[in-house]
Amino acid sequence: MDAIFSYILLLVLLSLSLSLIFLSHTYKRNYGSPKLPPGKAGWPIVGESVVFALSGPEKFISDRMNKYSPQVFQTSLLGEKMAVFCGASGNKFLFSNETKLLTSWWPQSMKKALLFPSFVENSLKEVTALKRGFLHEILKPEALKHYIPIMDSMAAQHLDSEWAPHGEVKVFPMLKKYTFALACKLFMSIEDPEHVARLAEAFTLVTSGLFSVPIDFPGMAYNRAIKGGRMVREELLGIIRHRRKELSEKKETPFGDLLSRMLLVTDEDGKFMNEMEISNNIIGLLVASYDTTSTAVTFVLNYLAELPHVYSAVFKEQMEIAKSKGTEKLLNWEDIEKMKYSWNVAREALRLTPPAQGAFREAITDFTYAGFTIPKGWKTFWTVHSTHKNPQYFPNPEKFDPSRFEGSGPAPYTFVPFGGGARMCPGKEYARLEVLVFMHNVVKRFKLEKAVANEKIIYHSSPTPVNGVPVRLQPHEK
Ligand code: HEM
Repeated sequence: MDAIFSYILLLVLLSLSLSLIFLSHTYKRNYGSPKLPPGKAGWPIVGESVVFALSGPEKFISDRMNKYSPQVFQTSLLGEKMAVFCGASGNKFLFSNETKLLTSWWPQSMKKALLFPSFVENSLKEVTALKRGFLHEILKPEALKHYIPIMDSMAAQHLDSEWAPHGEVKVFPMLKKYTFALACKLFMSIEDPEHVARLAEAFTLVTSGLFSVPIDFPGMAYNRAIKGGRMVREELLGIIRHRRKELSEKKETPFGDLLSRMLLVTDEDGKFMNEMEISNNIIGLLVASYDTTSTAVTFVLNYLAELPHVYSAVFKEQMEIAKSKGTEKLLNWEDIEKMKYSWNVAREALRLTPPAQGAFREAITDFTYAGFTIPKGWKTFWTVHSTHKNPQYFPNPEKFDPSRFEGSGPAPYTFVPFGGGARMCPGKEYARLEVLVFMHNVVKRFKLEKAVANEKIIYHSSPTPVNGVPVRLQPHEK
């Protein structure tokens, strides 16, 4: 009897659990299971990072937009589940929902390599404090006006010493050197070439490993980036302490540079920033500006060397400005404002070869986009590659055509080399000045001719020309 009872009980329990499983499946299908964006996660840990690296961001994005959805697809990059938002609507959605649905997020490799600088941490408080305090303040056009003559004379000196003695130069490594030297001068008044070179060497290790797969093993990019980050930070802390001492002893110090302003600025409670905070901010600015601006100028010059009709029009505009000034005077704000065609050329170069690929965010709550659920904790990515070469927004997209930027220019949220919304790049204006001042100096002295046609471009954190864009220099007759 007991055996029969047990048997019936077992049957009841079994059928009960089967019904529960069935019910839970039905419930999940109808109500509970979120409809995630289409796409695939790839391999464990590395996800689709390897495919991304091999195919390059542009192909990776366009293949998946065609295969899965032109609005949003899922993937797994840098060890994270990620939704890639596409098209002008995707950009608009991410740019407009900062802090409501999303917060800033940077890959583990970046945080570790830089030893957690504040602007890459997820602490919104620190980021807004940094911005409110002075980031936008020191990078706004009025503050940057004073840098234009310094940029002008540094560009002229650089061309004198590094370009003029040669018949041919590699533009990319030259621009890396120049950009870093300029930042060292404007941010910290460091001019000694040996000191600049030492910092640059450590810094290159950091930037080349910023977006690497986070495997800390000797020889891996991530491991080198961490070592480089440590070296840069030690150097910077030394520089900051020295400057603080000089300031306290009231020695004559370069007050105009960024470092002095950071040492002297106080927050709403009258508190100064500590050494770690200052080094965080300087590292943040160096990281954000180094690869991006050097790549931007390199590709502008690449197109000038490739397209003689574009070069001629830029030359005409720049020579009118140069002639109006005579030989002595350095460039100023009014001159920059006259460089309209040259800036359209630079913008077209930024559209075709954008230095920054996009940026990440983290979902702080579940939300729906285009009918798909993005779960809390997932990372999102907006990217220049879903709009910049989309014929819907830029007809004949491969054609270099600066006139696209005349009149009202491209449709909103389609041309996004600097991002958009609350987090749009605060260094946009600094970059504009640096690009235009360098263009001015180069075309004033040389005509350029490409030494290698159809050079291959590979992607690290920015597009990298494999041969470094070698150009033959033809000095203008005096
Ligand atoms: C052509 C050159 C440059 C390009 C293409 C560029 C592009 C970008 C992009 C796409 C972002 C991310 C925006 C987002 O999160 O949605 C960004 C952020 C940032 N950029 Fe730039 N950038 C350039 C130059 C600079 C320069 C010269 C500086 C500083 C002097 C700078 C400072 C920053 C900072 C601090 C951020 C982080 C802002 C934040 O998280 O709120 N950038 N930039």
